[in-house]
Amino acid sequence: MRRIGVLTSGGDAPGMNAAIRAVTRTGMAAGFEVFGVRCGFAGLIAGDLVPFDARAVGGIIERGGTMLGSARCPEFLTDEGRRAAVASLESKQLDALVIIGGNGSQAGAYALSKLGVPVVGIASTIDNDLAGSEITIGVDTALNIALEAIDRLKTTAASHHRAFLVEVMGRHCGYLALMAGIAGGAEVVAIPEQPCEPEAIAQELKAAYERGKSHAIGVVAEGAKYRAADIAAYFRDHHERIGFDLRVTALGHVQRGGAPGAFDRLLATRLGAGAVDALVRGQTGVLVGLLRGEVAMTPLAEVAGAAKPLDLRLMDLARVLAR
Ligand code: F6P
Repeated sequence: MRRIGVLTSGGDAPGMNAAIRAVTRTGMAAGFEVFGVRCGFAGLIAGDLVPFDARAVGGIIERGGTMLGSARCPEFLTDEGRRAAVASLESKQLDALVIIGGNGSQAGAYALSKLGVPVVGIASTIDNDLAGSEITIGVDTALNIALEAIDRLKTTAASHHRAFLVEVMGRHCGYLALMAGIAGGAEVVAIPEQPCEPEAIAQELKAAYERGKSHAIGVVAEGAKYRAADIAAYFRDHHERIGFDLRVTALGHVQRGGAPGAFDRLLATRLGAGAVDALVRGQTGVLVGLLRGEVAMTPLAEVAGAAKPLDLRLMDLARVLAR
């Protein structure tokens, strides 16, 4: 194995650049020629490769996003698209591919490995919904952004005796909402894994005021049964009875942008180096993630399409802590 490609796919996550840098520099140290593949699987199909040396990945560890660009690629979901990707890899004489991304990207990695491509995945998504890694690249930074928003909202909420809902990303997973709710001291958390009605949220927030709290903050996962805007509409419709105002702040892509924190830089660096180690050992068809605090490999066959359950006992903890 001599020539390896590295690509980022799906939603970007803070720390992806640190992973690209680690793959490139540890790959070069291991004697590989390293190529960046631009714009994810779309770039792979198009053969959009750039040769990397140590300087090409200089000054990126502190940058958010991905310097390679990313894309969601419908063509790659088809057999034809996947075969085109394999043909492109062969024509560029790449011996192996490192794929940095979340669920969809690792499903793509698995599809390529089934077509005979030596692939290693790196666990990266702010959603933290990927099996094979207890925490993924970008989660910690995204959580800190949500926390900053919650901390700031608390001061204005307390000043106006208002309730706020903060809507956070996470697609179908409530991890970010639950952790932000616990670490931010929210009064209520709404997640897809444990559906709740707007009336229950109203009662929780009202009870918080009645317990003498100066603010009432709810964290709502974007994938929850009712999105923050729906809950706010319910509050408007029942304003007289509920008795207080509710404002909504949806963090959206703000949560995915910006510089990675120390944890994500280090995690991404360890996973990038782990991916190269795997290639050196000839271990492919695996996801590199963090398990019990250690860099660990899990077969992509066990990762693709697998659910990573959220520990719902933490919802009980969040309720107790909100007293
Ligand atoms: O998977 C990462 C993520 O940021 C999700 O939290 C969110 O639902 C989705 O991507 C947004 O996707 P897009 O950037 O394509 O709008």
